[in-house]
Amino acid sequence: MSNQEGGASGDPAERAGRDTSSSAQDTPSLSAQRDAWEKWNAETREQRLGEISEDQRDRVVGWLKTLNRPGLRIIDVGCGAGWLCPELQRFGTVTATDLSASVLSRAQARMPDVSFVAGDFMNLQFDNEGFDVVVSLEMLAHVADQSAFIAKIARLLRPGGLLIFATQNRPVLEKLNSVPLPAPGSIRKWVDEAELRQLLRPHFDIDELVTITPKANRFPWRLVSNNKVDPVLRALFGNGPKRLKERLGWGWTIMTLAHKREAGGHE
Ligand SMILES: C[S@@+](CC[C@H](N)C(=O)[O-])C[C@H]1O[C@@H](n2cnc3c(N)ncnc32)[C@H](O)[C@@H]1O
Repeated sequence: MSNQEGGASGDPAERAGRDTSSSAQDTPSLSAQRDAWEKWNAETREQRLGEISEDQRDRVVGWLKTLNRPGLRIIDVGCGAGWLCPELQRFGTVTATDLSASVLSRAQARMPDVSFVAGDFMNLQFDNEGFDVVVSLEMLAHVADQSAFIAKIARLLRPGGLLIFATQNRPVLEKLNSVPLPAPGSIRKWVDEAELRQLLRPHFDIDELVTITPKANRFPWRLVSNNKVDPVLRALFGNGPKRLKERLGWGWTIMTLAHKREAGGHE
């Protein structure tokens, strides 16, 4: 999970202060996961958005605009504090779901027109094929069974429906950055681009896959991407250096736009 300025993550993992790569781990109980995420959402996204979330938001909105279709039925899976919902509401009706019940009740008070549903996504019932768009930012890495998670998302979408997905970019978090261990209670299984493509392949055709928001806090990469250098590069060259690093695959986040394969369609 991710994110905050300078490549330091806000996730429970990262604030625990131990450094490691993603690895196999025992699955914590759901209540332990819920406690960890309640705390994380309250301490991070309910307080502020960082550059990583802002870039994800801009990409989601950009992709939704290209559809040029009002009245979409949208679900935000793993919505956390619900900060993306007001943007999604510009395009239709919004359902948003997350484990974090008390975070969602505060979000519901702020956003009465969003339908918030608290619970374990894998055990919640939604209308199959009831949505035109599923958005899910940074949840994949935190579920025990990633294939089952993608299959469930696919069931919610009408044939041809859109998936807008963001997930942490494993090589960038592991090689270019030093990121502390997951906090007790949270699951962390980062993927790379190839693994994401493989997870999506049974249900989705990918329209676009990009990496966004380059971050590096490890030597030597931090020499060309850090909180001091980046503003100078931006002042001199605009967004060119950032876009170049994204094209080189240095983005903290992998984002993809995909559509659910129609019945009878081939992988
Ligand atoms: C890294 S946070 C991202 C939250 C939000 N999308 C954002 O970008 O700020 C991951 C979210 O996934 C949620 N989550 C993890 N496992 C879940 C599950 N089994 N069911 C529902 N939500 C879950 C967590 O509660 C947490 O809010």
